[in-house]
Amino acid sequence: MTHSPSPNDFSRFWMPFSANRDFARDPRLITAADGMYYTSSDGRQILDATAGLWCVNAGHGDPIIKEALKRQIDTLDYAPHFNFGTPAAFELAGQVAALFPAGLEHVFFTGSGSESVDTALKIALHYHRARGDGARTRLIGRERGYHGVGFGGISVGGIVNNRKHFGTLLTGTDHMRHTHDPARNAFSRGCPDHGAELADDLIRIAELHDPSTIAAVIVEPMAGSTGVLLPPKGYLQRLREICDRNGILLIFDEVITAYGRLGKASAAEVFGVTPDIITTAKGLTNGVIPMGAVIVDEKIYASAMEHSETPIELFHGYTYSAHPMAVAAAKATLETYRRNDMFARVEALAPLWEDAVHNLRDVPNVVDLRNMGLVAGIELSPRPGAPGARGAEVMKMAWAEGLMIRVTGDIIALSPPFIITEDEIQMLFEKLAGILRRID
Ligand SMILES: Cc1ncc(COP(=O)(O)O)c(C=O)c1O
Repeated sequence: MTHSPSPNDFSRFWMPFSANRDFARDPRLITAADGMYYTSSDGRQILDATAGLWCVNAGHGDPIIKEALKRQIDTLDYAPHFNFGTPAAFELAGQVAALFPAGLEHVFFTGSGSESVDTALKIALHYHRARGDGARTRLIGRERGYHGVGFGGISVGGIVNNRKHFGTLLTGTDHMRHTHDPARNAFSRGCPDHGAELADDLIRIAELHDPSTIAAVIVEPMAGSTGVLLPPKGYLQRLREICDRNGILLIFDEVITAYGRLGKASAAEVFGVTPDIITTAKGLTNGVIPMGAVIVDEKIYASAMEHSETPIELFHGYTYSAHPMAVAAAKATLETYRRNDMFARVEALAPLWEDAVHNLRDVPNVVDLRNMGLVAGIELSPRPGAPGARGAEVMKMAWAEGLMIRVTGDIIALSPPFIITEDEIQMLFEKLAGILRRID
């Protein structure tokens, strides 16, 4: 066994979305990764049941991506994309657009999911204003929505802890009701039967503010960060219809669902609903280099090009938009997905995965199980007076037993790399069931 020394001062690095003080007492340190496994600093192999943070879809150390990055660093380390360009960025934009439903034809590159969300919200506002409909300034999100951590994203997001510390946020936002309804839908396999009518909450909001003031609605087609909430059957279709009737743009935040997670390139394709804008990141580069992409409908791009009063059509962009290293990583990632037919692999594994998830039904404290593609949400009942304590304990026990899982409060979310084998799926759920049986 190889042992790596621990840092002597954990307080220097202020860790993101982490219990910093608790971590320093009982650190979980990773020193290497290959395929489905991390190596911990005490030399153990840890099964990655979360693809990092929903991003390492092709598994760790993919050879196609590694080679592409080695070539790229020797050729072009950085070039700006403000009034200059690299051929590879234009090629990648075409390849990305081709993965999404027809009509979504233009790509704006960002550095993360949060940047993609802020970009999409700004493009929506810009679109209406450019067309002379500048009264449309309201942005509508949904309770329990997660759209990253920029001020735009937290303003339309619906997670209390992500909002309450940060002042008044963007003005002019509102939120639809969330769709989580365990009383009617617990233990659904795939999309739940009940709740399409919750989309009508947008009508209520539109009537309150007047539809002519609303620029866009943003939702995750499948909400990941608040515990894997699948859209009720017919819900997204209904949302699309309401948006169409009222001139409202529909944005799908596909930061975790795009690039194969549900068995197709996008959730839009899985659910048969085409939004006006799709935000992506994570799986675009397999997590290897930060990058996001916003895919935009033809009419929005055309409008910006036609109506612009200035040579620069959109006053927005990032130093790292289309960073050459990220572009190389993304092109190689899409290549590895295609060459290894990885989205089809997710689709093929999904029934077995679903059975494995729902085998947990009789395990103590499990109050709901949700699944789609290679995603699972395992909801535990909270300990009385200590919400989140049971979930946190499961996460720590899983680490001790060689599993990386993710918990949101008392909900476990699983989203492994697409290269997971049937045996590894079995091992993952056996270990997890064992842990859940042992904790109180
Ligand atoms: C739906 C959604 N949007 C946005 C984000 C933010 O992405 P990032 O952490 O890359 O900024 C996430 C991250 O998990 C996400 O799940």
